[in-house]
Amino acid sequence: EKGNYPFYMIKEIEEQPKAVWACLNVYTKNDLVDFEAIGLTKEYLSSLDNIYILGCGSAYNVGKVSECIIEELTNCQVRVELASEFKYRNYKLNKNSLAIIISQSGETKDSYEALLKCKNEGIKTLSIVNVKGSVIPRNSDYHIYTYAGPEIAVATTKAYSSQLLVMYLFSLALAEAKGDITLEDEKKYIKELKSLPEKMEHILSDKASVQKLANHFVSKKDVFFIGREMDYAISEEGSLKFKEVTYIHSEAKPSGELKHGTLSLITDGVPVIAIATQNELLEKSISNMEEVKSRGASVIALTMEGADVSKSSKYQIYIPKTNKLFTASLAIIYLQLLAYYVSIAKGINPDQPRNLAKSVTVE
Ligand code: F6R
Repeated sequence: EKGNYPFYMIKEIEEQPKAVWACLNVYTKNDLVDFEAIGLTKEYLSSLDNIYILGCGSAYNVGKVSECIIEELTNCQVRVELASEFKYRNYKLNKNSLAIIISQSGETKDSYEALLKCKNEGIKTLSIVNVKGSVIPRNSDYHIYTYAGPEIAVATTKAYSSQLLVMYLFSLALAEAKGDITLEDEKKYIKELKSLPEKMEHILSDKASVQKLANHFVSKKDVFFIGREMDYAISEEGSLKFKEVTYIHSEAKPSGELKHGTLSLITDGVPVIAIATQNELLEKSISNMEEVKSRGASVIALTMEGADVSKSSKYQIYIPKTNKLFTASLAIIYLQLLAYYVSIAKGINPDQPRNLAKSVTVE
């Protein structure tokens, strides 16, 4: 039930702090990851050195964020693929791997077929799914439920956030099992994760400013999202959400690729949302903001508190401070809200974007 909310999308956006708590409650104990019930033992995790992550749409975007985290924390090889491509490619799969299939519905046909391909190749599978008892977890060696509660709006919000949370926990458990981080480090990370719901609430209390910013987009034809590394992975999800519910063409590009083509589309008044949550990349990100600003772009910078981006952007959005590994969880809330409010301002029903279905069980 929608209760007092006009749409499921905003209800589900607001439910994210609770969804994150649910995962933390179920899968941590004494500030350590607890996958005991899942069957993922420390011994098994320590034997892994190759991970595949497969999914479609936003689930794939979760994979792209996770890839940066696993690479940062461990020496494992990670490969993230779109399930719809993976099943037709002739990849030389490494048998001693774990394939992680991410799916809210647990029914997406392409993701299910990617799972079957892994099984046929003798690769162990772990699914991360929201809908209990669906086909993907029923057929996986291991499964982790995300406990986000039913998600009704077509564009995923809280399931994305829960999937991210589970992938953070998986990455920490993997790194600890492999001896790449200590138990003390793991505890510190988990404590930081426990502060996310409150930081999410803080962002949600700032809805009015996003609503105001949304007016700026209503008459636009194209919007670009740029970022590097993790910030690029966040850009992809921000852009997907935006195009789904606003019907405005949007595109995410790694900032370093602008010069290789997309810059030709940056002209007077074109909105560019520059994601810059990674402090180490801030200087580079600022120079990309200036690059598009000098072509007339209207730059909206999304960065972390403490970063000074005021000279290179027209509007600034700041997420509360958090560990650099977890910024996606906060940045995405602003981007979901932006997509939602532009949708509303254009008179679109964000819960049911044209031509899209919640569960894609055909190819
Ligand atoms: C985007 C969105 C879709 C889904 C995709 C996969 O907002 O909701 O891109 O993420 O269709 O669906 P699941 O996760 O059910 O496999």
